[in-house]
Amino acid sequence: MEQTLSIIKPDAVERNLVEEIKNIFIKNNLKIVNEKKLHINKEEALEFYKVHQSKPFYDKLCSYLSSGPIVVMILEGKNVIMENRRIMGATDPKNAEADTIRKLYGISIDKNSVHGSDSEETATKEINFFFKD
Ligand code: RTP
Ligand code: MG
Repeated sequence: MEQTLSIIKPDAVERNLVEEIKNIFIKNNLKIVNEKKLHINKEEALEFYKVHQSKPFYDKLCSYLSSGPIVVMILEGKNVIMENRRIMGATDPKNAEADTIRKLYGISIDKNSVHGSDSEETATKEINFFFKD
């Protein structure tokens, strides 16, 4: 069965939205097969978001992801990579569809509450990044 990596970002953990967000996944038939809460450092964030290293927002993005506790999860289900992206909504909460996580809870394009892998290749890489043992 297909798997993807989901992260509940610091803004959502800080606002105690973890259970609400997990329930959205569960209601949409995405199974949470592994989960942990952790606080990564800046170096780890720089490594995790390395695909964005040439982007103007790279440094800010990595400072933000390492600014507080996050919850990382492996989600499993049919077509889960694209399903999770649909349930998350657009990167900028202003452009997100109704009832998506980012529309419901996102504060801004930076504090957009969740991350989701965007392809099979990144899903494998990102799952190994957090759950390789
Ligand atoms: P994510 O990787 O966090 O799931 O978000 P995404 O796929 O929807 O967006 P992506 O393009 O991968 O960007 C990663 C994160 O960088 C921030 N961002 N800022 N124009 C900007 O200022 C800008 N573009 C992207 C967002 O916080 C996004 O989640
Ligand atoms: Mg992305």
